[in-house]
Amino acid sequence: MRLVIISNRLPVIVHGEMPNAGFERSIGGLVTGIDSYVKMIASGKTRFDDYLWIGWPGTDVDEKDQNRVRRHLLDEHKLLPVYLSAEIIQEYYYEFCNRTIWPLFHYFPDHVSHNFRSWQYYEEANAMFYATLQQCLRPDDVVWIHDYHLMLLPQMIRRGFPEVSVSFFLHIPFPTTDIFRHLSRAEQVGILEGLLGADVIGFHTYGYAHEFLQCILKVLKLKSDQHEIVLNDRKVKVDIFPMGIDYAGIRRLSLSKQCGSIRESIRQDFSGYKLILSVDRLDYTKGILNRLIAFEQLLEQFPEWREKVVLMMIVAPSRREIGAYQQIKRSIDEWVGRINGSYGTNKWVPVIYQYKQFNLTELCALYAASDVALVTPLRDGMNLIAKEFIASHTDKKGVLILSEMAGAINELVDAVAVNPYSTEEMVAALVRALTMSCEEQAFRNERMHLRLKKYSVVKWAHEIMEATINNKNNKPVRS
Ligand code: G6P
Repeated sequence: MRLVIISNRLPVIVHGEMPNAGFERSIGGLVTGIDSYVKMIASGKTRFDDYLWIGWPGTDVDEKDQNRVRRHLLDEHKLLPVYLSAEIIQEYYYEFCNRTIWPLFHYFPDHVSHNFRSWQYYEEANAMFYATLQQCLRPDDVVWIHDYHLMLLPQMIRRGFPEVSVSFFLHIPFPTTDIFRHLSRAEQVGILEGLLGADVIGFHTYGYAHEFLQCILKVLKLKSDQHEIVLNDRKVKVDIFPMGIDYAGIRRLSLSKQCGSIRESIRQDFSGYKLILSVDRLDYTKGILNRLIAFEQLLEQFPEWREKVVLMMIVAPSRREIGAYQQIKRSIDEWVGRINGSYGTNKWVPVIYQYKQFNLTELCALYAASDVALVTPLRDGMNLIAKEFIASHTDKKGVLILSEMAGAINELVDAVAVNPYSTEEMVAALVRALTMSCEEQAFRNERMHLRLKKYSVVKWAHEIMEATINNKNNKPVRS
């Protein structure tokens, strides 16, 4: 049996301008997680004997280069590219996906731009993914669709290939009906009916699944019973699958020589300081500014921490073409300058800010070298950084400060939970984290390690796949 994964972005994308373009790994929780599962398939540890991953290679590849790129991606990585024109990328990816759905589903209605034109491109782009799938789909394939870019695809597949098992997983929050209703009626119905084409629709948390079922009831007037929606000829299962990390892999990496030597050199560089780490993709949903404000207040209200603590802030560039992202980048630059200008001394830079992408080995070393991780998104579907930080600390040390607005808080209940909108709470959490005893750290982390080990990304994927296959060909039970 083959697994066909479909996501907007492929895990390997084209980087730079042709003819000198190369390939690089993508960032983001989705790709990191599924990549770990794919490695398991390749090593024969799942029920699948093969896989194929369909998606966009991250840029508009010129027609003359498309065959070469396709050949490389297919032969080297089992990836099948969907080529999107610059116009479709603009309207479908930047506009509808990232200026309508993304801000709306993360509760940022002020950032939403909305027009009927981009919705039409969204439909067209989903149809293009479908057309690519159609060319290679086999009857016994299981199709696994990911995220908000492709919410119409399940229904397209259901119509074309009624017998195929289809799974859909949403990696971002699903909002309340009141927020969802900011979309036009055609979009609301299109998205909900599109999703109902799947056999299983998965969410990270109970809250997201609940909101989705509320929308199904209020918008489509369809009732559900025990998380099942009965349609004419089949049942759709809506369930909760909190995405995990490759716990064993991260642990192995963290214990590796290479990671160890980077970690030691970071520890030496910051010896005598407490190191607070913040790692994000650049996004206004991540609460980076709120975090900087809280750090500034820590230095202001607790001068005893000056010259004793450093905030290492890693921000990976993302969606640079969008105004809101450029704006947040400028604000971050200004705040970092302001804090370093006001509090820095000849010997001490309070915020070390790196605007670039780090690889997993470097990140693991940074996690393990840090005393505190400050993970405080304003809204986040799950947040795997929080999980990776804990797993990388094989010594069970380190304090995780985690936002109540991140899906991960439901599982990492031993983290120091904060409201990311409250500077006061964040300052208090920082003081608590910086002064927490090693015993308390170990006690909290031990429990989180157990959770992460048990609910790894492979278990996550395995449970979704089992649920999808079990739901295949189901018929509604009518009394
Ligand atoms: C989030 C989304 C992913 C997305 C990633 C990176 O994690 O859930 O679907 O791939 O961000 O964003 P990008 O727009 O660069 O693909």
